[in-house]
Amino acid sequence: MKFIVYDNPKQIGDHIGKEIVDLLKRNPKAVLGLATGSSPLPVYDYLAKAYKAKEVSFKDCYSFNLDEYINPPFEEATYRYFMKENLFSRVDMDLSHTHFPSFENMDTYDDEIASMGGVDLQILGIGRDGHIGFNEPNTSFDSKTHTTPLEESTRIANARFFHSLEETPHEAITMGLGTIMQSKHIVLIASDLTKVDAIKALLKGEKDLQWPATVLLDHPSTEIFVTKEVFDEANK
Ligand code: F6R
Repeated sequence: MKFIVYDNPKQIGDHIGKEIVDLLKRNPKAVLGLATGSSPLPVYDYLAKAYKAKEVSFKDCYSFNLDEYINPPFEEATYRYFMKENLFSRVDMDLSHTHFPSFENMDTYDDEIASMGGVDLQILGIGRDGHIGFNEPNTSFDSKTHTTPLEESTRIANARFFHSLEETPHEAITMGLGTIMQSKHIVLIASDLTKVDAIKALLKGEKDLQWPATVLLDHPSTEIFVTKEVFDEANK
């Protein structure tokens, strides 16, 4: 696991965006593992700009998103909608190549990923409780795609995408920690101070079921991107 420290989230987005552009130049049919939330937005901005500048095409690549809400109250709250808004509609992504976990496919999602040759590059944010995907504390390190209740702290953090906390979903379907660990390369972004305790757990270097992201300590190719303020605070 390698820590990479930048002054601000845009620099993190530029670095990871460039990694993805380079990957797609090497392998236009690459399989991307995608995340929603605030952390990857600067990456998606970089990719939209690179596409506009004709540096890269997404038409032959594939994507598997990490997670999706169960029973979101309106369509705009789905992660599929989020991805269309923030990435797919801004580039030439073929929507038939994009995948999201659902009740229908959750038992076959891991096999589907494997049958495409596995995820080449997985983007992760991290929750304040250390979740990756929606793998909350105490999720088994070898879990596959599954349904999960959301912790109250996760619902509170995500209520900003809804009209109220009451409306914020209680459950989601997520790739498991075992699913994520199959990715060939992983980039994790922690760019705001709510993530300090989760980053502290990673810096401690011990796998701990209370901090799901610590599973990544065993992954052979993971980069942890943090802002300087997060890094400095986590090292105190
Ligand atoms: C989103 C996801 C979550 C988020 C995490 C951080 O698809 O899987 O694990 O990455 O909740 O969210 P942000 O980036 O909004 O702080």
